[in-house]
Amino acid sequence: MRRKLAAGNWKMNGTSADLGQIEALAAAHSGAISEIMIAPPHTLLHRASEFTKTGPITLGAQDCHKRESGAHTGDISADMLLDAGASYVILGHSERRTEHDEHDEDVRGKARAALKAGLRVIICMGEELEEREADNTLDIIGGQLAGSIPDDISGETLVVAYEPIWAIGTGKVPTIAQISEVHDFIRARLAKRFGPQVARSIRLLYGGSVKPANAAEIFAVDNVDGALVGGASLTAQDFSPIIAALDAS
Ligand code: PGA
Repeated sequence: MRRKLAAGNWKMNGTSADLGQIEALAAAHSGAISEIMIAPPHTLLHRASEFTKTGPITLGAQDCHKRESGAHTGDISADMLLDAGASYVILGHSERRTEHDEHDEDVRGKARAALKAGLRVIICMGEELEEREADNTLDIIGGQLAGSIPDDISGETLVVAYEPIWAIGTGKVPTIAQISEVHDFIRARLAKRFGPQVARSIRLLYGGSVKPANAAEIFAVDNVDGALVGGASLTAQDFSPIIAALDAS
């Protein structure tokens, strides 16, 4: 059975003053059924690992380089993230694709490096509003799936996050039918490529304006195994009810 995953992406938010949020979450959810992952900025990983050594929370990073080391000023390698306490890395987030011109082949290269280092990967994909309105969503997702995911994955090491770009940070959420259609499509495509058994074990997250108020409804959708949460993961007060909704789903 797939273990549900509540993943928090802090993006470029958080300083040491915010470590208390992770400490509070760990204390509040010591008996969590779901897995909880927080991806703080790189600068907090090592210190955050103090609160995640024994509790229910695992740590993730928000990006990594495709090379193991070398002359790449300002970049960070998968090994470094693992060393700092991460066990996941989020790759191909739409903000990376847009702001850093990352394409599917870049994401795939980074994913290979992360898997080689021993990290699990959360690979993100999603359509623009114009693509949805033109009825191209499944084509876009199909292309991103084929291009971003390397061949050597397993149900243990790969998580896929469907994040419609127009829903990220906007308060807009697709309909339940739209979420369901895309998640079913992703599962079917994964089955075609990796076989039904592997596809059944890969967790599929929905992301984009997940809040305490809409979480339960989204988690009731078949093939939604959790969420990738941005804004509402920044405080324990907001993230906690989302985790509780996932535990109850
Ligand atoms: P949001 O971000 O929850 O703030 O919409 C989601 C994400 O970008 O992962």
